[in-house]
Amino acid sequence: MLRLSVNVDHVATLRQARGSNYPDPVTAALLAELAGASGITVHLREDRRHIQERDVELLRRTVKTKLNLEMGLSESVVKFALKVRPDLATLVPEKREELTTEGGLDLSKSGDRLPEVISLLHDAGIAVSLFINPTPNSVKKAHKLNADFVELHTGLYAEAKDPSQIAEELEKIAGSAMLAKKLELGVNAGHGLNYENVREIAMIKEIDELSIGHSIISRSCLVGIQEAVRQMLKLMQR
Ligand code: PXP
Repeated sequence: MLRLSVNVDHVATLRQARGSNYPDPVTAALLAELAGASGITVHLREDRRHIQERDVELLRRTVKTKLNLEMGLSESVVKFALKVRPDLATLVPEKREELTTEGGLDLSKSGDRLPEVISLLHDAGIAVSLFINPTPNSVKKAHKLNADFVELHTGLYAEAKDPSQIAEELEKIAGSAMLAKKLELGVNAGHGLNYENVREIAMIKEIDELSIGHSIISRSCLVGIQEAVRQMLKLMQR
């Protein structure tokens, strides 16, 4: 069965926008698990714009499925990951100015730092996934680097507008998933997946898990609004 890891970063985005202590991404994670998610994903960014260390520490103690920590390669974040020990660490490129992760890791330019971080994480018993663009070269390099999983970047597929471009991106994702499976890597995929575009990706049988955040948190604002208004009106009754 295709698994879903729910990314709760944007619950924290809403909290940070007001500097309040709600909504709590930890509560959201537990509700996502109750609804059937098989994992929870958070990205501890270097600038701490949404998820905070406190969130990851609490999630480590409360998540009953699998905790996937997305992270860059900076020393402080790696040190934190080694202490918290998520079930999976997904290594991603991180730029301060980006709104969200913009592309997969460039494995040809990773130098010594990437293998070093992979082996530190492995030594701590943490499985490692590399977020890569869906190309055969990247999959082969991830395998050579001793990754346990790849996460195939679906962003270009999600952004593609015309049918031939969509088909082309799907083919790249399917081909990379097949190659990764052949190399005995676990296969995750994500970025930009939503209620309109997820079906075609879900049909690729080599993909084990999807990581989805923004569309689910956005949808939850809308499908939850009627109940939220009802609860407030009830409190306002004289
Ligand atoms: N996978 C990775 C590596 C990501 O960086 C993100 C965004 O945080 C996602 C998946 C989820 O993307 P989205 O929020 O668009 O569903």
